[in-house]
This record gives sequence, C-alpha cells and structure tokens, in this order.
Amino acid sequence: MSVKIVQQAFGGPEVLEPMNADTPTVADLAPDEVLVAVAAAGVNPIDVMTREGGGMAAAGVITLPFTPGWDVAGTVEAIGSSVTGLTVGQRVLGLACFPKEGRAYAEYVIVPAEDVTATPDNLTNEQAGGLPMAAMTAWQAFTDTTRVGPDQRVLITGAGGGVGHLAVQIAHHLGAHVTAIASTGKHEWLRGLGADETIDYRDNEAVAALTDTVDVALNLAAGSRESALQSVRAGGTLIALGGGSEDLAAQAEQAGIRFAATHVHTQRDWLESVVELAAQGIIEPTVSEVFDLAEAAAAHRSVESGHSTGKIVLSTTRQS
Ligand SMILES: NC(=O)c1ccc[n+]([C@@H]2O[C@H](COP(=O)([O-])OP(=O)(O)OC[C@H]3O[C@@H](n4cnc5c(N)ncnc54)[C@H](OP(=O)(O)O)[C@@H]3O)[C@@H](O)[C@H]2O)c1
Repeated sequence: MSVKIVQQAFGGPEVLEPMNADTPTVADLAPDEVLVAVAAAGVNPIDVMTREGGGMAAAGVITLPFTPGWDVAGTVEAIGSSVTGLTVGQRVLGLACFPKEGRAYAEYVIVPAEDVTATPDNLTNEQAGGLPMAAMTAWQAFTDTTRVGPDQRVLITGAGGGVGHLAVQIAHHLGAHVTAIASTGKHEWLRGLGADETIDYRDNEAVAALTDTVDVALNLAAGSRESALQSVRAGGTLIALGGGSEDLAAQAEQAGIRFAATHVHTQRDWLESVVELAAQGIIEPTVSEVFDLAEAAAAHRSVESGHSTGKIVLSTTRQS
C-alpha cells in the first residue's frame, strides 16, 4: 500500500484527503509509461483553483474523484515495454499530463515517459519538483509567445513567486534588462537572480515612472495588471497568464500594444530547455517551503496567501 491524495469533492483545502491505495506495479504500465516513486510534487496556483472547482475542473478536463498534482520529481521504479532512454533507479522530473489529471500528489505515479526527463545532478528532488510548470511557463512566455533578447527591457510583476523568480533568471539569461516588481523583502534576492531593477508594487511613484518604458511585460499578479499595461511602450507586448483578461486585451489594443494570454502545457522541448538551463546553473528554483504529502492542505493554504516566495513543494519520505 502507499499514500495518495484524493479529492472526492471540490472545496477548501480540507478536501485534500490522504488515502491508502494499492501501489502500482509494472503490470499497470502501458508500453509507453513509467512508474515514478515520487520524492516531491510542486504546488501551483492552478492546483488550488482546480481544487475549488475552477481551473481545469471548470474547463471540464478534471472530474471527481481525482488525485491532484502536475509537477513531479522522483525515481523511476519501473518502465513500460517500449520505453527507451530511461532506466530503473534514475532520478526524473516533469510536468505530468498537464492539463489532464497528473496525479503527482502521491507516493507513486504512472506518467507517460515522454513527460519526464533526467533530473540534473545539481538539483535536489525538492527543487526538481518545483521546476517544471513554473519554468516552462516563463520559457514559453519569453521564447514562444514573444522572443526576448538583448537590448530589450522586460518587466515582470509577481516576480517573487514561483513563475516570477524563474522568469527573472530566464529573461536575464536571454540578455534583457530586467525590472522586477515584488514586495521589498524579496528585492535583494531578486537582484541576485539577475534583476537589474526592483520596485515594490506599493511604491506608486516608482511604478508610475515605468510608464511607456518597457518592450515586454509579463504580468503574474492580478494586483499589478494595470501597472504592467501602463509600462509597455506602443508596439511592445503585454503577456498575461490566466483567464479574465478580456478587458486588459481591449485596453492593450487601444494603446497599440500586442496582447498575448499564455497557457502552459506539457511539451517536451520546453521541459528539455528549462532542465538544460538548470543543469548549467543558469536557472535555479528557490524552494521556500516544504510540506509532507499528507499536509497538502497546509501547502495549499500557503499558496493561497498569494505571497509565496519561489516554490512551495510537497515531499514524500522517498528521497532516494
Ligand atoms: N497561464 C499559464 O500558463 C500559467 C502558468 C503558471 C502560472 N499561471 C498564473 O500565474 C500567476 C503566478 O503564478 P505563480 O506560480 O508564480 O504564483 P505564486 O508563486 O503564488 O506567486 C505570486 C507572487 O505575486 C506576488 N504579488 C502579490 N501581489 C502582487 C502585486 N500586486 N504586484 C506584484 N506582485 C504581487 C506575491 O508575493 P509578494 O506580494 O510578497 O511580492 C507572490 O510572490 C498565477 O495567477 C498563476 O495561476 C498561469
């Protein structure tokens, strides 16, 4: 037997119930799947929204009962008959099946082999569990939604969160001048990650001074969406994540700003790109809080605060 979190209902954090279940075996695998002994599972705002019945539940992709979790890191326990390139005992990480049910909040999970790749030696399992969704989102924003490069000025709001702190590192790596908007306590850390300038979102004067100055704004915080819009020069790009941005899109269009609403998904080349950056030490996830798997509800409460620092992850006792 092993433990997994099961949601029998949508609602508050208390619906995240630890349950005993039969441990999957090699006999449960399709030819192209692997069984992963989970060491860590990242917690993302979309997990919270879906738990409440929004997010991927509202989209009709997730139905009850289900096991939450998409970010996964652990060790390959068994491989399907057609899987190549992965071996039993290897450390792996990935974004499991997103936006379909990922089932990563568990001691064991079956995932398509395509969704995972080797964990770099320089990452702990907890860092690996916090990397995929956040880093792939930032990578998508700056290399696919728009192409960020040298001589560009990039603004990132919500810069101190899971996506934001990796977006700062990726934009810096791509050669951009990076302005990070975050609460003051996170400024020194963000400058160490590559931000050229840091501004507190409560500093109205400094925020106003950004008007029409940046080429690309990545808005990761609902409270800073107007500031993000104002900061972009005509002809620049505003990238918003999440729904409910129709009014922002209309305002951007009126101001001659390109608007893009980005949605991450499991995609092999994005995973490989961010893992390579991590392997080279170009990006490094900061994990600020670790909760036991059975404390998933407490982890969700922390994410729900809306003021996370870097990533929050769940950990099993399986750190092999
Ligand atoms: N569409 C997609 O593909 C996609 C993918 C991933 C995430 N997302 C969305 O992107 C957003 C960010 O995700 P995340 O994982 O980075 O969230 P997170 O880890 O919870 O971080 C949010 C950050 O925003 C900061 N913040 C709060 N109010 C702010 C304000 N007014 N101005 C600037 N920063 C503020 C918070 O800390 P401080 O207040 O202390 O600075 C916190 O660091 C979420 O809405 C998430 O759902 C979308």
